[in-house]
Amino acid sequence: MEQMSLIEEQKNSYLVDIFSADNFCNEDSRKFIEKKYSSKLEITDKFNRKSVSYQLSKKDILHSWLKYKEGFSASLVNILLNEMKAMPGDLVMDPFMGSGTTALVCKMRGIDSIGYDIMPISSISLKAKAACTDYDLKEIRDLIEDVKKIEIPHFYQGNLPYINITKYAYPEETEKFLQYISEWRDKCSYSELSKNLLTLCVINSLERISYTSKSGQYLSWDTRSKKVQLANSARIAKGKKYYLKNMCAHKFFLQKKLSFVSCNMLLMILRLFKK
Ligand SMILES: C[S@@+](CC[C@H](N)C(=O)[O-])C[C@H]1O[C@@H](n2cnc3c(N)ncnc32)[C@H](O)[C@@H]1O
Repeated sequence: MEQMSLIEEQKNSYLVDIFSADNFCNEDSRKFIEKKYSSKLEITDKFNRKSVSYQLSKKDILHSWLKYKEGFSASLVNILLNEMKAMPGDLVMDPFMGSGTTALVCKMRGIDSIGYDIMPISSISLKAKAACTDYDLKEIRDLIEDVKKIEIPHFYQGNLPYINITKYAYPEETEKFLQYISEWRDKCSYSELSKNLLTLCVINSLERISYTSKSGQYLSWDTRSKKVQLANSARIAKGKKYYLKNMCAHKFFLQKKLSFVSCNMLLMILRLFKK
């Protein structure tokens, strides 16, 4: 009896009063659902920090194709599917698909699945990974060779569309290359599957070729970015100190090379699947 009340007490300590940062969202509905289902909560050691995060997928041959820090591990999905006794013929829904871990694990186990995600990268990632044994390797090799040969014409004026948060996120030349390669991809005659893989490779390269890196919910900025330089000029004009805090010094500016570096990596992996 004493142990039961201890468990209840522990469970209650997992319920949170305030979830929304600075009370940005009304929490009545969340609290209502939490209360309604609190009797179903259990304390378990079936999962750990690694399985409920992207960590285990980092070295996975397929789940690592998209570095998705918000992703869960295939191991977590497998544990849950086992627990639900999911069998081929069942239908699993993941309303927050992310990189597509649930759908991919289901596919491997012959279980049907549906899902959606607010981020378009989700379907690009899932499409690329789910087709891992279907690629025409000669076509991928040709595509990589063609990407390597891309030269931006000197008169090219295309600009990468951006939202405010990504303004000045790339060196000018890189930004131009990203726009150019996306137009090139749309026009080229390769199969949709190969084009999708190229899109995934380019997306995978974005952080490394940018002046930013993801840091928790925010971006940290390299001081070489015009955004930081403008902020610094404004600070100096106001008699404040130069702002250096967010410098991400690890950046290499391999620029366009990176997109086909990751293509080459994928090619190696695809070869393994073909064996
Ligand atoms: C924790 S991640 C899911 C990770 C995924 N299970 C995996 O292993 O990659 C949560 C996902 O929910 C998506 N999301 C957030 N709000 C959403 C909404 N309103 N509708 C659909 N998807 C949403 C995010 O884009 C993110 O990909």
